[in-house]
Amino acid sequence: MCGIVGYIGKRDATPILMEGLHRLEYRGYDSAGLAVARNEKLQVIKTKGKVRDLERILPERIKGMTGIAHTRWATHGEPSDRNAHPHTDTSERFAIVHNGIIENAASLRTKLEASGVTFRSETDSEVIAHLLAASPADTLEDSLRSVLRLVTGTYGIAVLDAQRPESIVIARNGSPVVIGIGDREMFVASDPAALVRHTQSVVHLDDGELAVVRADGYETSTLDGGATAKTPLTIPWTDESFDKGEFSHYMRKEIAEQPDAIRRTLSGRLEPRFQTTHIGGLEMAARELLEVKRIKILGCGSAYIAGSLGAHLIEQLARLPASAEPASEFRYRNPVIEQDTLYIAVSQSGETFDTLAAVQEVKRKGGRVLGIVNVVGSTIARECARGIYLHAGPEIAVVSTKTFTSTVVAFALLAVHLGRLKDLSTAQGARLLAALQALPDQVATILNQEARIATLAQRFARHENAYFVGRAAGFPIAMEGALKLKEISYLHAEAYPASELKHGPLALISPETPTVIVMPRDDLYAKNLSTIEEIRARSGPTFVITQPGDPLPMPVDAVIEVPKSEAVLDPLLLNIPLQLLAYHVALARGRNIDQPRNLAKSVTVE
Ligand code: AGP
Repeated sequence: MCGIVGYIGKRDATPILMEGLHRLEYRGYDSAGLAVARNEKLQVIKTKGKVRDLERILPERIKGMTGIAHTRWATHGEPSDRNAHPHTDTSERFAIVHNGIIENAASLRTKLEASGVTFRSETDSEVIAHLLAASPADTLEDSLRSVLRLVTGTYGIAVLDAQRPESIVIARNGSPVVIGIGDREMFVASDPAALVRHTQSVVHLDDGELAVVRADGYETSTLDGGATAKTPLTIPWTDESFDKGEFSHYMRKEIAEQPDAIRRTLSGRLEPRFQTTHIGGLEMAARELLEVKRIKILGCGSAYIAGSLGAHLIEQLARLPASAEPASEFRYRNPVIEQDTLYIAVSQSGETFDTLAAVQEVKRKGGRVLGIVNVVGSTIARECARGIYLHAGPEIAVVSTKTFTSTVVAFALLAVHLGRLKDLSTAQGARLLAALQALPDQVATILNQEARIATLAQRFARHENAYFVGRAAGFPIAMEGALKLKEISYLHAEAYPASELKHGPLALISPETPTVIVMPRDDLYAKNLSTIEEIRARSGPTFVITQPGDPLPMPVDAVIEVPKSEAVLDPLLLNIPLQLLAYHVALARGRNIDQPRNLAKSVTVE
């Protein structure tokens, strides 16, 4: 998705903007550009393609101490040089970079054209630059306020006035913008990743806020002009956490980081004295938690799938009815919000538009929402007010791996906590705590099987279609395995509950369609053996992910074994080989693993 970077201070802005753009590349984009103010003029360079393409065409002479830059992910108008941001007004005095969608751009454009303005792009964003030029207001902030009163839609926006380069003005409605506080210099970004090299002290704008950012400070206000008070937040990530290190892909690095990520998610949250867990951000006393009659979990993509495992954990350990639902659909079915239901929003980035909209729908109807989020200070984290941070560290690859695992761990912490308030015994609590502590080492042993999984991936990579099946909590793992594979290898992969195979998909099983069977050695093991027989009877290749035990009673194409944990935690371990499988299939197929086509790390538009 689109990214914004801005700088104002005493240094040359261009290298800082370029480095910020590089930091935002992981979000997915199709063009890039920057504008720097100098001697009351704007210098604007932009191009279709990658940040390195922009670097190639960047003239030496582009100098100045105030600038804004952008990576664009096309919504209105194809990816092209002229549609890339920044956009300027006709006189090239105002430059704007914009994330989001201006919904009434067409009618504003018609009016501007009628007044003689010639547009140079097909974007919705360009109207903002022309409206700024037409504003009679005295200051840039008042001009922007008047323009934003005319537009409907979503925006994270940064504006530069060549004639008054002593400030950058930013505003937010539905698309994040943060200010990074430096030493007599300030940074602006849509994602703290772009400024963490320079500062860890940030201020997040809220929807409906605007800020004037100068080298020596900033002022925030509402769109009506009333001052707002903001407290800077410290981002717990450093520049090093964004390095790829020895790995050739961020995804591979993040898979390898899982033992540490789990340790961080657990850190300080286990209470062996009472065989329970302690979750600081929950902010609900035992009595309040006991009044909860149901749990509804909302998230998108992998966050939804992790939520499905969370529901399973809560039902099993706390015996509370719990279910997960894609957040992207939630608001459209006019959901009934119940007072005795606890809603949980799951989002790695904390910026997913659909999840945020679901949170707002619950809150608007008086419901309580808890967030399970990785990015500290992100919009969903702030909107939920109470919640569990994953502390998994930054996840750069578009696909979720370590944050999926940490989310399941966070749900396990919550489920143990709720369970121990109810019927979970001290012995069960102690066993679960021990199992949680064992997870990092168990994940590490699975990662040691990478060479075998890579060999298997070579065979898998020859196919164009695959099924992933599982039962009970094995089904969400099948879903996650299929999602990961399709996202990065572009191989068509579908997940089914194993029990549903004979109700339709069996028609497609053939020697050309491998099936991955997720089958812990649980009560459903025998049923999964029957599933394997059904597939083998149609000559379908079978790849089994299971746990150590008696040899399978029939030949299969491959078996990967993972260590046994407590039954409710087994799915987490069964998922790890599927991450490696997806990675190596994508590698064998020569895909762009960290930035798969058409996908963005955080989907901040509807
Ligand atoms: C996962 O591999 C995907 N990239 C995607 O499904 C993702 O989980 C989803 O977009 C939700 O993102 P979030 O966790 O940042 O809200």
